[in-house]
Amino acid sequence: MPTVVDRGLEGVVVGSTKLSNVEGTVGRLTYRGFDIDDLAPSATFEEIVHLLLYGHLPNRTELETLKRELGSRRSLPEPLISAMQNVPKTAWPMDVLRTIVSGLGLFSPVNARGEHLSDVHTAIELVAKTPTIVAAWDRIRRGLDAVEPRADLSQASNFLYMRSGKMPHAIEADALDTYFVLLADHSYNASTFAARVTASTRADLYASVTAALATLQGDLHGGAATASFRALTEVGDPENAEGYVREALARNERIMGMGHREYKVRDPRARHLEAMAKKLSEQEGNSRWYEIASRLEDASRKVLQEKKPDNTIYANVDFYTAPVLADLGIPGDEFTCLFACGRIAGWTGHILEQLADNRLIRPQATYDGPPPGPFVPIEKRDVNGARN
Ligand code: ACO
Repeated sequence: MPTVVDRGLEGVVVGSTKLSNVEGTVGRLTYRGFDIDDLAPSATFEEIVHLLLYGHLPNRTELETLKRELGSRRSLPEPLISAMQNVPKTAWPMDVLRTIVSGLGLFSPVNARGEHLSDVHTAIELVAKTPTIVAAWDRIRRGLDAVEPRADLSQASNFLYMRSGKMPHAIEADALDTYFVLLADHSYNASTFAARVTASTRADLYASVTAALATLQGDLHGGAATASFRALTEVGDPENAEGYVREALARNERIMGMGHREYKVRDPRARHLEAMAKKLSEQEGNSRWYEIASRLEDASRKVLQEKKPDNTIYANVDFYTAPVLADLGIPGDEFTCLFACGRIAGWTGHILEQLADNRLIRPQATYDGPPPGPFVPIEKRDVNGARN
């Protein structure tokens, strides 16, 4: 009999990684030993990409080389742009992103066995192209032409430039860069685990990242940022926050962006995102998203505490993502795609780590269906398929 572990694999260690460490009881997140609290204000996303993919922070020459490679790999094959022009404008942005990332594999060279090269350069290509897809769909669905990426800009600046066709304000580009840094990796979260399971079958980087994107989509994971923004719009006014929480919990709904499987204290990324949301709200002529989010967090903590005095449900990374991205002008239904633009660094790093020391990931399940029995010919089956 297999050993039965917790449903949801809670507390189960299924592998190891050198990429990042989540210390849920103290609320610390480190990338290869560097604390996110130090990285968020000081490192660029490109430095983090280098750290995760090459194993160390880059010197100036290494950073310039990486930036050049990212810049040179941003453009999409024309048929993929055409494909986006031919899908309904109502298509969900994550569906488009997942499909076009999968489509990138069609344009990548294969060896005699039909396999793609899954190396660090393919990883960089995926990091480079993911924001191009998101920005292209953003424009195409608005009836505009996609803007060609610029090779001389950072990942964050270039993304904002491709959306609007204009150079972004430095505060906005910095905020998005920090957002990407904060989202870049998070150990064996659901989407990264899906990527590693896929890679463990020796599927290539395109297939493994497609699996990760599919797994990110749900609102218990990366979809929570979109759901959290929906909550902010439903609250509408800071004064309504507590009533909203009480009504949602009375309907047995969850407060999106609150709670985390690993963190038993506040998610360390939430603090940085909250500060960014506050700064952006001041910049944007006092948009109310930050104020609403702040009141909603307080109300959620208060009401959840009343229900369970020892509860450990705090804001997670998705909670303050909503006001940050909203103030950057990103539509709510694209938030999960923006998450992917940061997490692509971690996913590809994990896939390369998995492939470098691979063992097929194949767990077992206990069987709790009917006991073995004889086959029932179709003429002898009752309405439930059982023997008459
Ligand atoms: N709102 C209200 N109640 C909650 C919430 C929430 N956001 N989160 C957890 N709870 C409650 C559950 O109802 C449950 O209560 P019960 O014991 O009375 O049934 C208890 O807390 C434990 O919940 P679980 O789902 O078992 O805890 P788990 O560790 O699996 O949950 C999860 C983690 C899925 C993230 C959960 O907190 C949640 O659904 N949050 C909202 C969605 C969200 O924000 N997801 C993004 C997570 S971060 C990320 O993926 C990037």
